Amino acid sequence: MKKILILNGPNLNLLGKREPEIYGYDTFENHLQSFRQEFENILQIEYYQSNVEGYLIDKLHSVGFSYDGIVLNAGAYTHTSIAIADAIAAIQTPVIEVHISNVHARESFRHHSAISRVCKGVILGLGIESYRLALLYFARNRQNL
Ligand code: DQA
Repeated sequence: MKKILILNGPNLNLLGKREPEIYGYDTFENHLQSFRQEFENILQIEYYQSNVEGYLIDKLHSVGFSYDGIVLNAGAYTHTSIAIADAIAAIQTPVIEVHISNVHARESFRHHSAISRVCKGVILGLGIESYRLALLYFARNRQNL
């Protein structure tokens, strides 16, 4: 089985309660359960969420030399964090940047990503499906080319 980390940044612990018309009505734990079922025997999916930039960086360091893939929604740090971008560049595991909302259809401060440049790819605007498609990529792409 491939080892995958889903890493959620600030405020994503409030999924289901937080602006549900943008981010949906379900908790991330519920989505996680269905991802684990769907990719059973293919992906071993670990989940970590933090509101603290440094903890997200620590997690990238701790799995980034041994896991097969990371699905990262860095929340608002996406738009600001050179430190997270540096951490992604420093590790070996490929990172896919995901967003629930279409950040390009929202406020202009969400149009810039500090991390896209160092990510393998970016999937956004498809709701929770953005995560699922990133998982599918890691499940199907043997060499992550
Ligand atoms: C988000 C978009 C960000 O702009 C925002 O700060 C978030 C969530 C998304 O998944 O759509 O926290 O990353």
